[in-house]
Amino acid sequence: MARARPEPTQKTKTLSHCTLQFAIWIGKIPSNCCFLCEVSTTSVTRNPIPRTIRYNQKFMLRYFTAGESHGEALVAFLSGIPAGLKVDQAVLDRELWRRQQGYGRGGRMKIERDSAHILSGVRHGITIGSPISVQLENRDWKNWQESLPIGDGDPAKHKRVASPRPGHADLAGALKYNFPEARYILERASARESAARVAIGAIAKLFLRELGIEVLSHVVTTGSVTLREQVPWDKIRALYDREDVLLNCADPQGESQMKEEVDKVLRTGDSLGGVFEVVAHQVPPGLGTYAQWDERLDALLAAAVMSLQAVKAVEIGSGVASAFSPGSLVHDEIGYAAKSGFTAFSRTRNNAGGIEGGISNGEEIRVRGYLKPISTLRRPLQSVDFTTREPVKAAYERSDVCVVPAAGVAAEAMVALTLARCALDKFGGDSMTETVRNFQGYCQQLKNY
Ligand SMILES: Cc1cc2nc3c(=O)[nH]c(=O)nc-3n(C[C@H](O)[C@H](O)[C@H](O)COP(=O)(O)O)c2cc1C
Repeated sequence: MARARPEPTQKTKTLSHCTLQFAIWIGKIPSNCCFLCEVSTTSVTRNPIPRTIRYNQKFMLRYFTAGESHGEALVAFLSGIPAGLKVDQAVLDRELWRRQQGYGRGGRMKIERDSAHILSGVRHGITIGSPISVQLENRDWKNWQESLPIGDGDPAKHKRVASPRPGHADLAGALKYNFPEARYILERASARESAARVAIGAIAKLFLRELGIEVLSHVVTTGSVTLREQVPWDKIRALYDREDVLLNCADPQGESQMKEEVDKVLRTGDSLGGVFEVVAHQVPPGLGTYAQWDERLDALLAAAVMSLQAVKAVEIGSGVASAFSPGSLVHDEIGYAAKSGFTAFSRTRNNAGGIEGGISNGEEIRVRGYLKPISTLRRPLQSVDFTTREPVKAAYERSDVCVVPAAGVAAEAMVALTLARCALDKFGGDSMTETVRNFQGYCQQLKNY
């Protein structure tokens, strides 16, 4: 990459000029790093430095979301997808529909019926290399316009959340942002936001599909019911085609037991958590690296899945059980002469969940997310009134009682975005032609190894 070399200034002379150049070229130094700020401000007066230091420069693919739960809309941004990727709006809508399914969802799912309105970055059905933005209308907005206006509005119409709900961001958020009640806190902390991630996650899935990679999920645990066997890919793939989603469990008997668990809490006014598993199929060896702690694929996936509302633990492969087992029962022995796959190396099992040393190893990537039970209870827990500080029951708003299948779909999006990010960092490319060519060249290199 050719960049103008800045003249060393009075201030920069005290630093290693060589180090400074390197830092600017690779663009990996955070913008709040003080020595770099000092250098760039002084340099501007003498010899402007190209503005190469930007937010989250580390990755080629960048994304974030905006919007409140009962606001007008959610918005998601995705920047860095190469030009020429076919994008079918129906695929995005299907993913959004999947996030709204599952036994134990609340009334809001009937109102939402999400649809992705693509605002930019896609023309004539393909990406054009510019940032993609997607809007998801909140259909409930018409009932909230007066309660959550952008302007002052009528204070009498505001819907206060008078007492913080245990398990939600309500209290910690009100203290942090210095609000006298929790309305604005829950509006953004709500898992409604995950719909925006699902929309751009669907584009990441389309990108990965061009490389032959698929990402799907299934439910392992609901309440006290757990599947003990590892579920093979073809059964997980079959779940995706269902038009009627109950608990997205691959075992029919297990699924009906899970439904009974949900029925129990529906009767008693309680709620449930559980475990989902996201599986990424046909991921080549070589995504992620041990070279730096924050580039390890397992660490990136753990953060991505943990960032979802209500996920309290993340497991890669058989990570939890392996802590209680001897090495001989854990590590996946290596063979040679497999007929298919990226290489002729083979494994007898996949306890590693497809990642060793922070790098994908060519096996299926398996990531589990552990969800705490839904925090809003119809039979509310004890809390305190924000104004009087007297003990009261926690506030109640219409709520789901079990969301494990939906959380799995949101986690698919986060896994897909993370894998797409790592794939783009490895293979690069401004157009899909270039990315796919680089990918195929690498696959050939693996075959020749
Ligand atoms: C898809 C999905 C839907 C959810 N729906 C609800 C809900 O209707 N009511 C509720 O109280 N919590 C719901 N949650 C969980 C809350 O968002 C979560 O408990 C809350 O954000 C606090 O969790 P945290 O501490 O991990 O942020 C949902 C979570 C997910 C992933």
